Amino acid sequence: MPNFDTLPLSRNCADICGNKIIDYMPGMEFFGADERAEINDVLETGILFRYNHEAQRNNIYKARELEAAVAKLVGANYAHAVSSGSAAALCAMVAAGIGAGDEVIVPPFTYVATIEAVLLAGALPVFADIDDTLCLSAEGIRKALTPRTKGVCLVHMCGQMADMDAIMAVINEHKLVLVEDAGQAMGASYKGVYTGLWGRAGAYSFDFFKIATAGEGGVMVTNDEQVYQIADNYSDHGHDHIGTNRGMEQHPIIGFNYRISELHAAVGLAQTRRVPMIIEQNNARKKQLMERLGQVPGVSFARLPDPDGDSATFLNLLLPTEAAARQTVAELQAAGVGGFNYWFTNMYHFINQWDHIKTMQTASALPIEKFGAPQDYQTLDLPNAQHVIGRLISFGIRASWTADEVDTLAGQIEAAVTKAVGVEV
Ligand SMILES: Cc1ncc(COP(=O)(O)O)c(C=O)c1O
Repeated sequence: MPNFDTLPLSRNCADICGNKIIDYMPGMEFFGADERAEINDVLETGILFRYNHEAQRNNIYKARELEAAVAKLVGANYAHAVSSGSAAALCAMVAAGIGAGDEVIVPPFTYVATIEAVLLAGALPVFADIDDTLCLSAEGIRKALTPRTKGVCLVHMCGQMADMDAIMAVINEHKLVLVEDAGQAMGASYKGVYTGLWGRAGAYSFDFFKIATAGEGGVMVTNDEQVYQIADNYSDHGHDHIGTNRGMEQHPIIGFNYRISELHAAVGLAQTRRVPMIIEQNNARKKQLMERLGQVPGVSFARLPDPDGDSATFLNLLLPTEAAARQTVAELQAAGVGGFNYWFTNMYHFINQWDHIKTMQTASALPIEKFGAPQDYQTLDLPNAQHVIGRLISFGIRASWTADEVDTLAGQIEAAVTKAVGVEV
């Protein structure tokens, strides 16, 4: 059994979020002196804005440091911090050249932000099927291709990674633009290449529920200098950030404000430094859970195309049937066990919950309403998505769990599954 007693940090999640919140990823678990010190650096100068004010800021540039830390973590040539993971996804899309009228293949299992980013870029989402990796499959992408397909927004879900060899074969064969929404998978990799860096641009979320949190924030990564430049300009009203005369710089493109504040960046910076430790600790706990639960009849797991690249923020259980999954959820609830997501019905991450997208409820007209939707979103046929997500229960893993706590949870899950599979007709 792994030794979990050597955690380098105190467990003080209860200070900030109570003991009950365990159904998401662990950044929020570790909030302490490092975060406070980074914030204090900013408070001491009073410069909360990421650009300019050179004379007053005492060389404190937290957004820049966050970008350098993320670039180092994942081996990216460029990283650009913005106000949210949603904004990072939009910047990635726009900087990759996706725009009005372009068809972009998207998964039906993702946070709805992915779909919003495509729509706000003016593009047209085309839903394609997933597989047991919880991500778009190469086969699903192939089936969704049309002569108007410009790109794919691949989402790496639940801390894991998509099956990249198969997906890159389709991307390369059809010369598609690949953008990755790795909002839930910063630090995950496939055969040594990190999620977010397989295509033209990728996005990570730093919201309160991610492996590293800034409170609110996001980071776009790319290996392409031009893509980075566009994102940098686009996220700040098109300013080119050359020179020190704020407001009188050149504006090569039209943009908008998706800037991150120095305070948020300061928190994100301290948290990013914790990510390698969190991934290591998560993996030890996930391994223990999988070894034990793998023996339980009826339990299997979402496929990990590269088990060594798991960020392990979630244990992703697959039950034999949707009925068994629903009954397992009921048994867990009856036993007072929390900390899991049944995305099929409970969460805002699956197409079955997106009536507003299916019926295109908009505040004011979006480009898609002028171009026409490429699919009838109300009659989509995505059988694997229904089959996989109906059977999926994801437990958020906490890097601070003791071995005993992991053991107790494994026992609770085993008891719930055994009852559920037993009563299934
Ligand atoms: C896959 C994915 N993409 C994008 C986002 C949006 O990130 P944010 O909440 O930082 O805007 C999320 C957040 O949950 C997500 O899970």
